Amino acid sequence: MRTSLRYALRALLPLACVGMLAGIFLSGSAAQTPDAIDSEPQYAPQGAATCLTCHTNPAVTPVLDSIHALQSNPGTPFAQHQCESCHGASPTHYRSMQSPGVVFKGGLIPASDIATQNAQCLSCHESGQRLHWASSEHEFAGLACASCHQIH
Ligand code: HEC
Ligand code: HEC
Ligand code: HEC
Ligand code: HEC
Repeated sequence: MRTSLRYALRALLPLACVGMLAGIFLSGSAAQTPDAIDSEPQYAPQGAATCLTCHTNPAVTPVLDSIHALQSNPGTPFAQHQCESCHGASPTHYRSMQSPGVVFKGGLIPASDIATQNAQCLSCHESGQRLHWASSEHEFAGLACASCHQIH
């Protein structure tokens, strides 16, 4: 699975700007050992800017104008690890085109399981309105937050 995914992504790579790719590899921390990458989350050093070198698709960029991008609110994803607050630390994705940490919905890259997806949202939304999510009918129906909420 991993191998075929990487293969599929390689095939797509020409779509990404080669010059930008070079920039990413230069700015990535080459000194990091694979062990260090495995043992602790390695967030993109430039945050969303790293992701946006490739993800310029109009299906992706509207998130930048959403409530989640409001950096003046310290509780938002963009005031924290930006894209990776939701998609999880994704060093092997932006460096070597393996799967990002968390994939919602999915397409070419298969979606993460629903519990993993929802845990990412609930890391911020567990209190307040979502306090009773764990015992709600919706959870028993196995629904992903992203099946109802459009985020981008
Ligand atoms: C070097 C280019 C590049 C960079 C940098 C990059 N990506 Fe990607 N990403 C891709 C390609 C290519 C795909 C597969 C095609 C697609 O789904 O757009 C992909 C797929 C994804 C997907 C899955 C889309 C789906 O099918 O549901 C997510 C989520 C994602 N990237 C998030 C990120 C995040 C978050 C970052 C920054 C930490 C990032 N990407 C950085 C090239 C890149
Ligand atoms: C608040 C959580 C959240 C944040 C922040 C976020 N995403 Fe997403 N992302 C999602 C969800 C949920 C989806 C599934 C589609 C949707 O709901 O819009 C998704 C879908 C995607 C996809 C697949 C889009 C497609 O339909 O092909 C890509 C690529 C992606 N995100 C990249 C990024 C990048 C790059 C950033 C930062 C600029 C980012 N995301 C910020 C939650 C988030
Ligand atoms: C890093 C924290 C964080 C993460 C992760 C996060 N959110 Fe949010 N979300 C916020 C904050 C902060 C707001 C602004 C309102 C508030 O303060 O509660 C918000 C607002 C919302 C709103 C209200 C939107 C509106 O227009 O009023 C919805 C719905 C929502 N988030 C769903 C999600 C979903 C679904 C996910 C997972 C894909 C997610 N969030 C991930 C912090 C987060
Ligand atoms: C079956 C569809 C559905 C699912 C699944 C779902 N929601 Fe919602 N959610 C709604 C509706 C409908 C509302 C109320 C209308 C609105 O504010 O968008 C809402 C409201 C919210 C709000 C408050 C929005 C506000 O304006 O204050 C947040 C935050 C939220 N949901 C987060 C989540 C998270 C996190 C998950 C997953 C754990 C989730 N939702 C799963 C349908 C859903």
